[in-house]
Amino acid sequence: MLFCKNFSKMPVKILFVCLGNICRSPLAEAIFIDKIRKSGLASDFIAQSCGTANYHIGDSPDPRTIRNAQRNGIQLDHIVSQLSENDLHSYDFIMAMDRNNLSNIFRFDGAKENNHKIFLMRAFDSVGKDKDVPDPYYGDEKDFQEVFDILDRSVQSFVESLTK
Ligand code: 4NP
Repeated sequence: MLFCKNFSKMPVKILFVCLGNICRSPLAEAIFIDKIRKSGLASDFIAQSCGTANYHIGDSPDPRTIRNAQRNGIQLDHIVSQLSENDLHSYDFIMAMDRNNLSNIFRFDGAKENNHKIFLMRAFDSVGKDKDVPDPYYGDEKDFQEVFDILDRSVQSFVESLTK
């Protein structure tokens, strides 16, 4: 998937969405920010993340996500928030970590005005195209590392499609 580089407004706003906003989406957000900073494009994009559920509003990301990210050279700086209807209007790209969250986001977009902005994160993963980013919440370190590797690859390809 390639996007036209001439976005009508800058910065382009990206929202990464999972269920709890403590594992997958804050990691996707941090990896995205790291990659665009390293490419010298930080001022062209705004990235945030949120959850479709309200379980962890106001919390920090899961300590296992923070530790795993640090081991991979990524710093997490995030406070959990929940997806709001307004987000669908204000963001340009809404990236769902899995199909459950994807369909919940589509349902949120009742008037279907913003359907064109909503994507599955792994639509950008050439290795596991259109698969879910697995939820590591009940898993172990190996599962957190698998999520990191999937997101690193998918976000890299997403950044390339935005900037090529
Ligand atoms: P996330 O993982 O959606 O990647 O943040 C989860 C975090 C919390 C819960 C489930 C998944 N939970 O049930 O509290």
